[in-house]
Amino acid sequence: MTAAIRPMVAGNWKMNGTRASLDQIRAISEGVSGALSEKLDALICPPATLIYVATTLTVDTKLLIGAQDCHEKARSGAHTGDISAEMIADCFASHVIVGHSERRAEHHESNHTVSKKARAAYDQGLTAIICIGETREEHAAGRTMDVMKTQLVESLPDDATPENTVIAYEPIWAIGTGQTPGPEQVEDVHAAIRADLVERFGAAGEGFRLLYGGSVKPANARELLSVANVNGALIGGASLKADDFLAIYRAYEDILTS
Ligand code: PGA
Repeated sequence: MTAAIRPMVAGNWKMNGTRASLDQIRAISEGVSGALSEKLDALICPPATLIYVATTLTVDTKLLIGAQDCHEKARSGAHTGDISAEMIADCFASHVIVGHSERRAEHHESNHTVSKKARAAYDQGLTAIICIGETREEHAAGRTMDVMKTQLVESLPDDATPENTVIAYEPIWAIGTGQTPGPEQVEDVHAAIRADLVERFGAAGEGFRLLYGGSVKPANARELLSVANVNGALIGGASLKADDFLAIYRAYEDILTS
Protein backbone atom coordinates (compact mmCIF):
# COMPACT_ATOMS: atom_id res chain seq x y z
CA MET A 1 0.00 0.00 0.00
CA THR A 2 2.80 2.39 0.94
CA ALA A 3 4.23 2.24 -2.56
CA ALA A 4 1.10 3.96 -3.84
CA ILE A 5 1.56 6.99 -1.60
CA ARG A 6 2.99 9.99 -3.41
CA PRO A 7 6.02 11.11 -1.39
CA MET A 8 6.62 14.66 -0.22
CA VAL A 9 9.87 16.45 0.51
CA ALA A 10 9.09 19.43 2.71
CA GLY A 11 11.32 22.20 4.05
CA ASN A 12 10.68 24.13 7.25
CA TRP A 13 12.69 27.32 7.22
CA LYS A 14 11.77 28.20 10.83
CA MET A 15 12.76 31.78 11.79
CA ASN A 16 15.19 32.02 8.89
CA GLY A 17 14.87 33.89 5.64
CA THR A 18 14.71 37.44 4.37
CA ARG A 19 14.09 38.78 0.88
CA ALA A 20 17.64 37.74 0.03
CA SER A 21 16.56 34.11 0.51
CA LEU A 22 14.09 34.32 -2.33
CA ASP A 23 16.93 33.29 -4.63
CA GLN A 24 16.92 29.92 -2.86
CA ILE A 25 13.17 29.55 -3.38
CA ARG A 26 13.60 30.40 -7.04
CA ALA A 27 16.42 27.86 -7.40
CA ILE A 28 14.41 25.16 -5.63
CA SER A 29 11.39 25.81 -7.83
CA GLU A 30 13.57 25.48 -10.92
CA GLY A 31 15.07 22.24 -9.58
CA VAL A 32 11.78 20.50 -8.86
CA SER A 33 10.74 20.28 -12.49
CA GLY A 34 10.91 17.37 -14.89
CA ALA A 35 10.04 13.69 -14.57
CA LEU A 36 10.64 13.46 -10.83
CA SER A 37 8.14 16.23 -10.14
CA GLU A 38 5.42 14.00 -11.62
CA LYS A 39 6.08 11.46 -8.88
CA LEU A 40 6.62 13.47 -5.70
CA ASP A 41 5.73 16.78 -4.14
CA ALA A 42 8.10 19.48 -2.93
CA LEU A 43 7.06 22.07 -0.36
CA ILE A 44 8.86 24.96 1.29
CA CYS A 45 7.46 26.63 4.41
CA PRO A 46 9.23 30.00 4.64
CA PRO A 47 8.56 32.50 7.44
CA ALA A 48 5.16 34.19 7.16
CA THR A 49 6.76 37.39 5.88
CA LEU A 50 7.80 35.61 2.69
CA ILE A 51 4.76 33.46 1.95
CA TYR A 52 2.96 35.77 -0.42
CA VAL A 53 6.01 36.72 -2.43
CA ALA A 54 7.07 33.05 -2.52
CA THR A 55 3.74 31.90 -3.95
CA THR A 56 3.90 34.71 -6.51
CA LEU A 57 7.41 33.67 -7.48
CA THR A 58 6.53 29.99 -7.85
CA VAL A 59 3.10 30.31 -9.42
CA ASP A 60 3.90 28.38 -12.60
CA THR A 61 6.19 25.85 -10.97
CA LYS A 62 5.76 22.55 -9.13
CA LEU A 63 7.03 23.92 -5.82
CA LEU A 64 4.33 24.21 -3.16
CA ILE A 65 4.49 26.89 -0.48
CA GLY A 66 3.25 26.47 3.07
CA ALA A 67 3.21 28.17 6.45
CA GLN A 68 4.86 27.08 9.71
CA ASP A 69 1.93 27.57 12.07
CA CYS A 70 -1.58 29.00 12.30
CA HIS A 71 -3.86 30.16 15.08
CA GLU A 72 -6.52 27.76 16.33
CA LYS A 73 -9.21 30.23 15.21
CA ALA A 74 -9.54 29.86 11.45
CA ARG A 75 -10.45 33.47 10.68
CA SER A 76 -9.87 36.90 12.15
CA GLY A 77 -9.80 38.06 15.76
CA ALA A 78 -7.99 39.96 18.49
CA HIS A 79 -4.84 37.82 18.63
CA THR A 80 -1.84 40.10 18.34
CA GLY A 81 0.99 38.64 16.35
CA ASP A 82 -0.88 35.52 15.25
CA ILE A 83 -1.70 34.38 11.75
CA SER A 84 -4.92 32.63 10.75
CA ALA A 85 -5.43 29.80 8.32
CA GLU A 86 -7.60 32.17 6.31
CA MET A 87 -4.65 34.57 5.91
CA ILE A 88 -2.38 31.72 4.86
CA ALA A 89 -4.88 30.51 2.26
CA ASP A 90 -5.30 34.10 1.12
CA CYS A 91 -1.57 34.12 0.30
CA PHE A 92 -2.14 31.03 -1.92
CA ALA A 93 -0.23 28.67 0.38
CA SER A 94 -1.43 25.07 0.38
CA HIS A 95 -0.07 23.60 3.62
CA VAL A 96 0.55 24.58 7.22
CA ILE A 97 2.77 22.86 9.78
CA VAL A 98 1.10 22.49 13.19
CA GLY A 99 2.46 21.08 16.42
CA HIS A 100 6.14 21.39 15.60
CA SER A 101 8.09 20.53 18.75
CA GLU A 102 9.53 24.06 18.87
CA ARG A 103 5.97 25.46 19.03
CA ARG A 104 4.98 22.86 21.61
CA ALA A 105 8.00 23.72 23.78
CA GLU A 106 8.33 27.49 23.30
CA HIS A 107 4.63 28.33 23.09
CA HIS A 108 3.32 25.60 25.39
CA GLU A 109 1.06 24.13 22.77
CA SER A 110 -0.80 21.01 23.87
CA ASN A 111 -2.02 18.16 21.69
CA HIS A 112 -5.49 19.61 22.06
CA THR A 113 -4.33 22.99 20.72
CA VAL A 114 -2.58 21.27 17.84
CA SER A 115 -5.79 19.45 16.96
CA LYS A 116 -7.71 22.74 16.93
CA LYS A 117 -5.08 24.29 14.68
CA ALA A 118 -5.39 21.37 12.28
CA ARG A 119 -9.17 21.92 12.21
CA ALA A 120 -8.62 25.61 11.43
CA ALA A 121 -6.41 24.53 8.53
CA TYR A 122 -9.10 22.17 7.19
CA ASP A 123 -11.67 24.95 7.49
CA GLN A 124 -9.64 26.99 5.02
CA GLY A 125 -8.84 24.14 2.65
CA LEU A 126 -5.22 23.85 3.80
CA THR A 127 -3.42 20.56 4.38
CA ALA A 128 -2.12 20.31 7.94
CA ILE A 129 1.30 18.79 8.55
CA ILE A 130 0.91 17.54 12.12
CA CYS A 131 4.21 16.96 13.92
CA ILE A 132 4.75 14.47 16.71
CA GLY A 133 7.93 13.24 18.38
CA GLU A 134 9.44 12.16 21.66
CA THR A 135 12.04 13.97 23.79
CA ARG A 136 15.50 12.58 24.44
CA GLU A 137 14.44 11.55 27.95
CA GLU A 138 11.35 9.74 26.70
CA HIS A 139 13.47 8.04 24.06
CA ALA A 140 16.06 6.95 26.60
CA ALA A 141 13.33 5.62 28.89
CA GLY A 142 11.94 3.46 26.07
CA ARG A 143 8.69 5.42 26.01
CA THR A 144 8.75 6.43 22.34
CA MET A 145 5.82 4.26 21.26
CA ASP A 146 3.57 5.34 24.15
CA VAL A 147 4.32 9.00 23.60
CA MET A 148 3.65 8.66 19.86
CA LYS A 149 0.34 6.94 20.46
CA THR A 150 -0.92 9.65 22.80
CA GLN A 151 0.29 12.51 20.60
CA LEU A 152 -1.28 10.92 17.55
CA VAL A 153 -4.64 10.27 19.20
CA GLU A 154 -4.89 13.72 20.74
CA SER A 155 -3.34 15.88 18.00
CA LEU A 156 -5.27 14.39 15.08
CA PRO A 157 -8.86 15.58 14.62
CA ASP A 158 -11.50 12.95 13.90
CA ASP A 159 -12.04 14.43 10.46
CA ALA A 160 -8.40 14.00 9.43
CA THR A 161 -8.05 12.35 6.01
CA PRO A 162 -5.05 11.48 3.83
CA GLU A 163 -5.99 14.50 1.71
CA ASN A 164 -6.12 17.12 4.47
CA THR A 165 -3.40 15.75 6.76
CA VAL A 166 0.26 14.76 6.59
CA ILE A 167 1.94 13.36 9.69
CA ALA A 168 5.57 14.14 10.48
CA TYR A 169 7.43 11.99 12.97
CA GLU A 170 10.25 14.12 14.36
CA PRO A 171 12.19 12.75 17.34
CA ILE A 172 13.04 15.96 19.23
CA TRP A 173 16.54 14.71 20.04
CA ALA A 174 17.24 14.40 16.31
CA ILE A 175 16.18 17.96 15.39
CA GLY A 176 19.15 20.16 14.58
CA THR A 177 21.57 17.78 16.31
CA GLY A 178 22.98 15.78 13.41
CA GLN A 179 21.81 12.63 15.22
CA THR A 180 19.18 10.38 13.68
CA PRO A 181 17.55 7.16 14.76
CA GLY A 182 18.74 4.13 12.83
CA PRO A 183 16.59 3.01 9.91
CA GLU A 184 15.21 0.09 11.96
CA GLN A 185 14.01 2.47 14.67
CA VAL A 186 12.38 4.75 12.13
CA GLU A 187 10.75 1.72 10.54
CA ASP A 188 9.36 0.54 13.89
CA VAL A 189 7.90 3.92 14.83
CA HIS A 190 6.42 4.53 11.39
CA ALA A 191 4.91 1.01 11.37
CA ALA A 192 3.31 1.74 14.75
CA ILE A 193 1.94 5.08 13.54
CA ARG A 194 0.53 3.37 10.46
CA ALA A 195 -1.10 0.67 12.58
CA ASP A 196 -2.66 3.29 14.86
CA LEU A 197 -3.99 5.21 11.86
CA VAL A 198 -5.54 2.07 10.38
CA GLU A 199 -7.07 1.17 13.72
CA ARG A 200 -8.68 4.61 13.98
CA PHE A 201 -9.49 5.49 10.36
CA GLY A 202 -9.85 2.06 8.75
CA ALA A 203 -8.59 1.68 5.17
CA ALA A 204 -8.04 5.46 4.92
CA GLY A 205 -5.29 5.04 7.51
CA GLU A 206 -3.21 3.32 4.85
CA GLY A 207 -3.20 6.48 2.75
CA PHE A 208 -1.75 9.10 5.11
CA ARG A 209 1.68 10.40 4.22
CA LEU A 210 4.15 9.82 7.05
CA LEU A 211 7.20 12.08 6.87
CA TYR A 212 10.36 11.56 8.87
CA GLY A 213 12.05 14.70 10.21
CA GLY A 214 15.19 15.35 12.25
CA SER A 215 18.65 15.96 10.76
CA VAL A 216 17.75 14.78 7.27
CA LYS A 217 20.73 15.68 5.07
CA PRO A 218 21.86 14.84 1.54
CA ALA A 219 24.19 12.22 3.03
CA ASN A 220 21.52 10.24 4.90
CA ALA A 221 18.43 10.99 2.78
CA ARG A 222 18.53 7.89 0.66
CA GLU A 223 18.79 5.56 3.64
CA LEU A 224 16.05 7.28 5.66
CA LEU A 225 13.67 7.80 2.76
CA SER A 226 13.94 4.15 1.68
CA VAL A 227 12.48 2.94 4.97
CA ALA A 228 9.06 1.29 4.78
CA ASN A 229 6.22 3.67 5.67
CA VAL A 230 8.44 6.73 5.27
CA ASN A 231 6.67 8.77 2.62
CA GLY A 232 8.96 11.76 2.63
CA ALA A 233 10.92 14.13 4.81
CA LEU A 234 10.43 17.29 6.81
CA ILE A 235 13.73 19.12 6.62
CA GLY A 236 14.90 22.05 8.72
CA GLY A 237 18.50 23.22 8.34
CA ALA A 238 19.21 21.46 5.05
CA SER A 239 16.18 23.07 3.39
CA LEU A 240 17.68 26.55 3.61
CA LYS A 241 20.10 25.92 0.77
CA ALA A 242 18.63 24.99 -2.59
CA ASP A 243 21.51 22.63 -3.36
CA ASP A 244 20.99 20.61 -0.18
CA PHE A 245 17.21 20.55 -0.46
CA LEU A 246 17.42 19.44 -4.08
CA ALA A 247 20.00 16.75 -3.27
CA ILE A 248 17.54 15.29 -0.75
CA TYR A 249 14.69 15.59 -3.25
CA ARG A 250 16.76 13.79 -5.88
CA ALA A 251 17.40 10.88 -3.53
CA TYR A 252 14.00 9.78 -4.86
CA GLU A 253 15.49 9.28 -8.34
CA ASP A 254 17.00 6.04 -7.04
CA ILE A 255 14.29 5.15 -4.54
CA LEU A 256 11.40 5.39 -7.00
CA THR A 257 13.14 3.37 -9.67
CA SER A 258 14.59 0.64 -7.44
P1 PGA B 1 16.50 19.72 11.13
O1 PGA B 1 15.01 20.18 11.58
O2 PGA B 1 16.35 19.10 9.77
O3 PGA B 1 17.28 20.99 11.13
O4 PGA B 1 16.94 18.72 12.14
C1 PGA B 1 13.90 19.38 11.31
C2 PGA B 1 12.64 20.04 11.77
O5 PGA B 1 12.62 20.66 12.84
O6 PGA B 1 11.61 19.95 11.07
